[in-house]
Amino acid sequence: MKAMVYHGPGRRSWEEVPDPVIGAATDAIVRVDAVTICGTDLHILKGDVPEVTDGRILGHEAVGTVVSVGDAVQTLSVGDRVLVSCITACGRCRYCRDGMYGQCLGGGGWILGHLIDGTQAELVRVPFADTSTHKVPAGVSDEQMVMLADILPTSYEVGVRNGAVAPGDTVVIVGAGPIGLAAILTARLYSPSHIVVVDLADSRLEAARRFGADVTVNATKQSPSTVVKELTGGLGADVVMEAVGVPQTFEQCVELVRPGGHVANIGVHGAPATLHLEDIWIKNLTITTGLVDTYSTPTLIELVASARIDTAPMITHRFTLDEFEDAYDIFAAAAETGALKVLLTAAK
Ligand SMILES: NC(=O)c1ccc[n+]([C@@H]2O[C@H](COP(=O)([O-])OP(=O)(O)OC[C@H]3O[C@@H](n4cnc5c(N)ncnc54)[C@H](O)[C@@H]3O)[C@@H](O)[C@H]2O)c1
Ligand SMILES: [Zn+2]
Ligand SMILES: [Zn+2]
Repeated sequence: MKAMVYHGPGRRSWEEVPDPVIGAATDAIVRVDAVTICGTDLHILKGDVPEVTDGRILGHEAVGTVVSVGDAVQTLSVGDRVLVSCITACGRCRYCRDGMYGQCLGGGGWILGHLIDGTQAELVRVPFADTSTHKVPAGVSDEQMVMLADILPTSYEVGVRNGAVAPGDTVVIVGAGPIGLAAILTARLYSPSHIVVVDLADSRLEAARRFGADVTVNATKQSPSTVVKELTGGLGADVVMEAVGVPQTFEQCVELVRPGGHVANIGVHGAPATLHLEDIWIKNLTITTGLVDTYSTPTLIELVASARIDTAPMITHRFTLDEFEDAYDIFAAAAETGALKVLLTAAK
């Protein structure tokens, strides 16, 4: 089969590799029908994730069709259409029993395209297939569904749910990449009064307005703190989500929140940020962090199937699998290309 293979920092290629085979009785092999690229894949290509070694097939998001199952797989059959989640779950360890699949101790967690071969391929081996896939309901398209492999549950769980967004809230989202935009889509489920989105790029802020932000702030031209203070009578926001992943924006989020409010960090950070405890000890803040668990995926599938959430506008560019190299180039140059999420599908 063909797959997108990592060959060390800056080096990737769509090349011929052996087909995956069932290794454990709980595995399934899935033919990839639709797949996308995550910002995390770009981090890997920069060499930021040293656990990913030369020869690894990238990718942790896909929708596909089951082509074979191990003897112990009970709920999947050949021919089933499934969502392959970014998080693999053994289903049995202490964390899995608690719904914290991202922290799985039994060989799961974020492993696809990280510790084992991933989904950017014609076929993928999915361990613990019963508890690591979700059946795609009839009527839901592959492209709607593939957005539920990672970005929707991430923004919903780590941003909206950890941030405890409530009706009437003023919600600030710093960073309007796919994660920030998915946070807008899922925060709207709770009827906040205002969704304020902060970014540095006007194109991203335009996208934020299309997704439902009512106030956008280009932080190179306007002070987010002034805008939020004006909007909230000087108080600050009820919930602030960090969706960038740099110290400066985390520190800004802590400045923007009101006493008693929530700061939900979603961004992946590579450098320490300063927590101004001398200012915030008195403010009754809740600050949360998290890796996505995907406990909400069944709920999000219902929301997409019932048209309460439309994920299709996330996809700005479409390719076939054999155009994977071009798709990476377009996605990596998002500032010039306007790419949000790219979709790759098997050639018909
Ligand atoms: N916690 C998790 O489980 C999890 C899962 C997936 C992704 N993430 C992380 O979420 C973050 C966002 O992901 P993404 O794919 O949307 O990334 P992205 O790079 O596409 O988007 C980031 C956005 O932040 C903006 N930005 C950069 N610096 C800024 C600043 N100083 N002020 C305001 N905006 C600024 C950029 O213009 C861009 O639009 C990343 O750090 C990613 O690694 C976390
Ligand atoms: Zn991802
Ligand atoms: Zn587990």
